[in-house]
Amino acid sequence: MGEYDVYVTRRLPEPGMSIIQQHCRMEVNPHDRPLTREELLRAVRGRDGLVTLLTDRIDAEVMDAAGPQLRVVSNYAVGFNNVDVQEATRRRIVVTNTPGVLTETTADLAWALLMAVARRVVEADAFMRAGKYNGWSPTLFLGTDVYGKTLGIVGFGRIGQAVARRASGFGMRVLYHDVARRPGEEEARLGVAYRPLDELLSESDFVTLHVDLNPRTHHLIDARALSLMKPTAFLINTSRGPVVDEAALVRALEEGRLAGAGLDVFENEPAMAPGLARLPNVVVLPHIASASKETRSRMAEMAATNLVTALGGGRPAHVVNP
Ligand code: DGY
Repeated sequence: MGEYDVYVTRRLPEPGMSIIQQHCRMEVNPHDRPLTREELLRAVRGRDGLVTLLTDRIDAEVMDAAGPQLRVVSNYAVGFNNVDVQEATRRRIVVTNTPGVLTETTADLAWALLMAVARRVVEADAFMRAGKYNGWSPTLFLGTDVYGKTLGIVGFGRIGQAVARRASGFGMRVLYHDVARRPGEEEARLGVAYRPLDELLSESDFVTLHVDLNPRTHHLIDARALSLMKPTAFLINTSRGPVVDEAALVRALEEGRLAGAGLDVFENEPAMAPGLARLPNVVVLPHIASASKETRSRMAEMAATNLVTALGGGRPAHVVNP
């Protein structure tokens, strides 16, 4: 298989790189940053396979630049909204992703954000580091209870369900919304109840987003959706930034129509909407939901295996083409 020429748009953790190297001629982005568009268009030229990241827009222009021999785009993420899958399919290019291995890690981080905003962990940490603590106080950093509250999960796939499992330890009432309602016995087993989106938004104390980004979910949480939430409620987003109208979210937070937000993803990453970073009731993270050493290694192994399997003429385990 050494005859295949592969470009990797960002150095991946092991064992991903070794797997690719064993089977292909490989070139890797030498920089510790995403490639510019021009660099990407140059780098893909003549490649049989690409390993791409959510920061790379892989569209017809990139496929044209690569050339007709391009056989596989292995995306190092479960989300694949950065790849024009329809165009790839038309050209018989296999597109793969890395589902499953990051489910629990992402659910953990959604919970970390939820706990952090509810209990003001980041604000309190900054206060300590600034040397402002002068003794215990009955009213210092009063937050919001998590236990016994209502959690609304929007998008009830693997990650949404992993978030729900964790909620049972907090004695929460769990509501979910998804395009596909789960069978009654599954709802009972998971201890969750289905709600139409508007009802979920108005009943929940915490709303956490776990949908993929597609034309139906773009700005799913817009000004109208935010207006349905309780002023005491919190929004958590570890899915994709454009699922939320970020400017509308900033307005709702500034006007006290929402209690707070925990965000791992942003509408125009790496930028944040003006005003967001100034809000004390917001915790913002640099898209690290899957960023544990174990998970990123498993993702790398999966992305590499998907790539070499497709190049070898086999069917990778995680193909996203319809
Ligand atoms: C994904 O996999 O889609 C995450 O956003 C990054 O791990």
